[in-house]
Formats: sequence, structure tokens, C-alpha cells
Amino acid sequence: MTVPRHVAIIMDGNGRWASRRGLPRSAGHRAGLKPVRMCIEQCRQLGIPYLTLFAFSSENWNRPVTEVGFLMNLFIETLEKELDDLARQLVEVRFIGDRSALGAPIVERIEAAEARVVEGAQLRLTIALAYGGRWDLVQAARALAQDVATGALSFEQIDEAAIGRRVSLGGLPDPDLFIRTGGEKRISNFLLWNLAYSELWFCDRLWPEFDADDFAMAVREFGGRERRFGGVPGAGSH
Ligand code: FPP
Repeated sequence: MTVPRHVAIIMDGNGRWASRRGLPRSAGHRAGLKPVRMCIEQCRQLGIPYLTLFAFSSENWNRPVTEVGFLMNLFIETLEKELDDLARQLVEVRFIGDRSALGAPIVERIEAAEARVVEGAQLRLTIALAYGGRWDLVQAARALAQDVATGALSFEQIDEAAIGRRVSLGGLPDPDLFIRTGGEKRISNFLLWNLAYSELWFCDRLWPEFDADDFAMAVREFGGRERRFGGVPGAGSH
């Protein structure tokens, strides 16, 4: 069976999961940690080398200040608690997103996490924080413009590869499989550049309920899909 090399996930439904139980939304976010651990474990077991999770979007700043504060503290606390374990499991952690929008305490934790060298890493976990696909394209465009202005790049050298290197996931293979829980069927400004040819898989289950069987189902369905990349059957990758 074909296993994806890179899985990208929108973890949606924490708030609804909590509300249905008469709990505060924060309880849903905390419950959302369990499926994060499960996905990491599944990737390791199935030999999937790249996992990218959308933890906080550019648009999530519009949530009540208490919820934003809770989420930031949860990210900080989780990084502190889990980093050693992740390294032991040969998981290296990276972040994408607008760091200028984040507070100093979380940026410190992000930098410390990224500075950690994991020898023989088997999984690259990328966490999108304060991330938006349009923000990503804007920062890539700025980087290109700067390189043209300084003469590092000529106008004629601007091509897909030049942009691809400058978006936040530059250097990583594009996600083969995109998963979204929580019932909505949209990409919500996630990896706009990188999802061009990804297989999209949606499920109604809310993120805290998403379990290993669901993950396996998504991977199995991915294995059964024919990817043509705009070509004809059997033509292979783009
Ligand atoms: C979307 O559900 C979820 C979030 C905005 C937060 C995601 C965070 C976690 C799963 C916690 C930990 C993650 C890491 C990587 C440390 P929602 O609040 O939009 O749910 P709703 O649509 O039901 O309101």
C-alpha cells in the first residue's frame, strides 16, 4: 500500500467537543493533545517522515483574549513537557508562522525546540502557529523581491522552484495527504502553495475524538486513490 510521505492536518472541533459536554472550550483544546500524540505515534509506526499540524491560524487571533491566552500557555507548557520525549522518539520539531505576532515566552520555547539536534530523526513534526497561507505567500514574495533588489536573483530566475524554496515549508516534500476533522470541508488558509496536489480527506469526528482507526482509514483511502497530477492515468508524479 502506498503510504503518504507527508501528512498535513487541520485539527478542528475542540470547542464543539467541549461545549457538547458542558465544558469550557479550553477543556477541548487540552483534550486535543491526545490525538496529537496519537498522530505522531502513527506516523512513526507507518514510516511517515513528515507531519504538519495547524495549531493556530492568523485568523485565530480574533478569538476571545482568554482563549488565545489559554492556547498560548498550552503550547508553552506542552513544549516544555514533551520535548524530551519527542527527541527520544526521534521526532524533531519545527515551527512555521509569523513569529513577530507571538509573545517572547513562546518564541523562546520555539527557538529552544528548534535548536535541539535529534540525531537520526525519523519524523519531522512541523507546527503551524500564527500561520496563514496568504501570510506565507506574502513573506515569500517579499523574500523574492529582496533577492532581486540585491541582485542575488534575476527577474528571469523567478519560477515555481524559486517560490517553493521561499515558502515556509521550503525544502520539504508537499503534503500528499491533507486531513481535516470537525466536518468543515475547506482549507481555511492553510498551506496554500503546498496543498496544490494533495489528496484531501475530511471527517465529521471532532478533533479530540480522532483516533488511530480514523488515521489508518485516511491513510488507507489515500493508498487507494489515483494521483494524476494533471496528467493521464499511470503518468506518475508532477
Ligand atoms: C480548532 O478547534 C483547534 C484549535 C484552534 C487549537 C488546536 C490546538 C490543539 C489541538 C492543542 C495542542 C496542539 C499542539 C500542537 C501542542 P476549534 O476551537 O476551532 O473547534 P470548534 O470549531 O469546535 O470551535
